[in-house]
Amino acid sequence: MMALKHFLQFNDLNLDELEYVFERAHWIKNQFKNYKQYWPLQDRTLVMIFEKASTRTRLSFEAGMQQLGGSAIYLNTRDSQLGRGEPVEDAAQVISRMSDIVMIRTFEQEIIERFAANSRVPVINGLTNEYHPCQIMADIFTYIEHRGSIKGKTVAWIGDSNNVCNTWLQAAEVLDFNVHVSTPPGYEVEPERANLYGNDHFEVFADPMDAAKGADLVTTDVWTSMGFEAENEERMRDFADWQVDAEMMSVAAKDALFMHCLPAHRGEEVSAAVIDGKQSVVWDEAENRLHTQKALMEYLLLGKV
Ligand code: CP
Ligand code: NVA
Repeated sequence: MMALKHFLQFNDLNLDELEYVFERAHWIKNQFKNYKQYWPLQDRTLVMIFEKASTRTRLSFEAGMQQLGGSAIYLNTRDSQLGRGEPVEDAAQVISRMSDIVMIRTFEQEIIERFAANSRVPVINGLTNEYHPCQIMADIFTYIEHRGSIKGKTVAWIGDSNNVCNTWLQAAEVLDFNVHVSTPPGYEVEPERANLYGNDHFEVFADPMDAAKGADLVTTDVWTSMGFEAENEERMRDFADWQVDAEMMSVAAKDALFMHCLPAHRGEEVSAAVIDGKQSVVWDEAENRLHTQKALMEYLLLGKV
């Protein structure tokens, strides 16, 4: 039996644990691709709580749990008591007595922390305003598949210093690579919000072209994240020069990859030529959510097998 362990932010797993999860993801992916049944989580139940919309996260967790022999239950704020003011602590007590593992997509990180503090089972962050750790786990696994170790490499982050950006910054500390960040003025990285150990794994650039220069991986995300829709018009103006286009990719390393967590807006944060072009690995990246999260659930429930 594994001691109770949550995945609420990226650095909840150390280097050794991450390397193990990547190794398992590779093996589990192989089984899946070869139509080999692998049911280590038979009779286990995953509860997924969504307070924001999702396509990939829901699909990858639900399909992933089924493929591991377990089952998954979907709850959202609208049709459960969660939207009617039941305290998070009470919900955690009840939900974690009826399930083996919980995934939550919500607003403030504090909500998921309060849930985890009252949960008898592992809790996984499926995206908060602050972090998106499952996404970056899949992204780095994708990088490794295409290019090998990410250690010492440079990732260029172009755009908003949002949940996905914060998680890249944490990942850089755990896996020892560098992030070159360029955000418009007023949207700068807040190291405290990103919960970083220091500031030696990222560098800030005023000009996004300078951030992209020589990068091994160029990545971006929507200009307006879920929950920030009221700022959309202002953001469309502020972010206009922060589009990853062919010109920006041309200053990155020759074999640089392009990633985007999706959903994407062609013509805003990325040009169609880049996201649909040769350097883009966005479909592998989306698929790898499935394989890496299966490995994560296996690890949180069974430990090293
Ligand atoms: N990338 C990602 O988390 O996608 P969804 O919002 O569709 O889950
Ligand atoms: N930053 C985006 C990611 C969506 C997967 C958001 O939070 O809406």
